[in-house]
Amino acid sequence: MEKISTPLTEMLGMKYPMIIAPMFLVSNAEMLKAAIRSGITAAVPALNYRTDKDFREAIHEIRAEADGPMGVNLIVNKSNIRMMEQLKTCVELKVDFIITSLGSPRKVIELCKPAGIKVFCDVVDVHYAKICEDLGADAVIAVNKEAGGHAGPTPATELVPALVEACSIPVISAGGVGNGYQWKEKLELGAVGISMGSPFIATEEAGVSQDYKQACVDYGAEDIVMTTKLSGTPCTVINTPYMQDIGTQQNWLETFLNKNKKLKKFAKMLTAYKGMKMLEKAAMSATYKTVWCAGPSIEYVKSIRPIKAVVDEMVEQLTTSKVEVKE
Ligand SMILES: Cc1cc2nc3c(=O)[nH]c(=O)nc-3n(C[C@H](O)[C@H](O)[C@H](O)COP(=O)(O)O)c2cc1C
Repeated sequence: MEKISTPLTEMLGMKYPMIIAPMFLVSNAEMLKAAIRSGITAAVPALNYRTDKDFREAIHEIRAEADGPMGVNLIVNKSNIRMMEQLKTCVELKVDFIITSLGSPRKVIELCKPAGIKVFCDVVDVHYAKICEDLGADAVIAVNKEAGGHAGPTPATELVPALVEACSIPVISAGGVGNGYQWKEKLELGAVGISMGSPFIATEEAGVSQDYKQACVDYGAEDIVMTTKLSGTPCTVINTPYMQDIGTQQNWLETFLNKNKKLKKFAKMLTAYKGMKMLEKAAMSATYKTVWCAGPSIEYVKSIRPIKAVVDEMVEQLTTSKVEVKE
């Protein structure tokens, strides 16, 4: 199929304006290689690798086996104590782009600019987008209300045009896309491309259990709820019977600790640690404790497929505007 050219495809040197969004526990080297071979790109959270050695090996493997742009996601707030080590590895091994989330991209931009590595920053409003632009970001990623994970407060129809109007750097849209028609819609709003996560959980290459992938086929947009149980910050999960059982709100003790000035920092760290462990167990193994992070865009997932099949179908839909919706 023909190339769909936008400032994003030109900046990274790829065929179609799509990034497989970084997903904690889900993204892996197989997904990045498949994305590149399908004419798009993907970013993997550095956090998905326990050691710097594993992280380096994955970058080398992707580089050796797929010829195209690859990205890394760095959590840039204080919770990521390995941030500097991860950033230095990205610079040394010259990844193509970095997606920063949950904090200031200042340090990342400082080190990446001279190395020619592009920096895209997750933002949820104009104020923060301007800060990123002033710091020298190459693009902002507009995380909207329909996004999986930590969603923003504003729908794409408002957020993308507002950012396009306010910023002079390109805007990439993240959230709520599950077919080619919605992809096209985001481009028509002024985005130079999309960053799409949830629908790619149900792919052969994704690094999670078959049950988690199948859940993204079986459940739909109405089954997505927000929980504060995982990190303290609202996060989207599938409302499985187990989730209904434990509830989506922090209990009184967690709420009390999180409000207490002295204990707040430790309570937050503990909640985040417990949440990560819960997610990890549920994502990797068969357990009745099904805590599965996904966004409403799983509505459009009808089967578990290879990444290339998902991309090809979406490109076809984007170019012909013919889209089927899940029954
Ligand atoms: C399972 C899952 C894990 C995620 N993990 C991360 C992460 O580690 N870092 C990050 O910046 N964003 C993360 N996100 C957010 C995505 O990068 C992206 O913004 C989101 O998936 C876009 O919405 P969509 O799922 O509707 O496509 C995650 C999202 C999901 C669904």
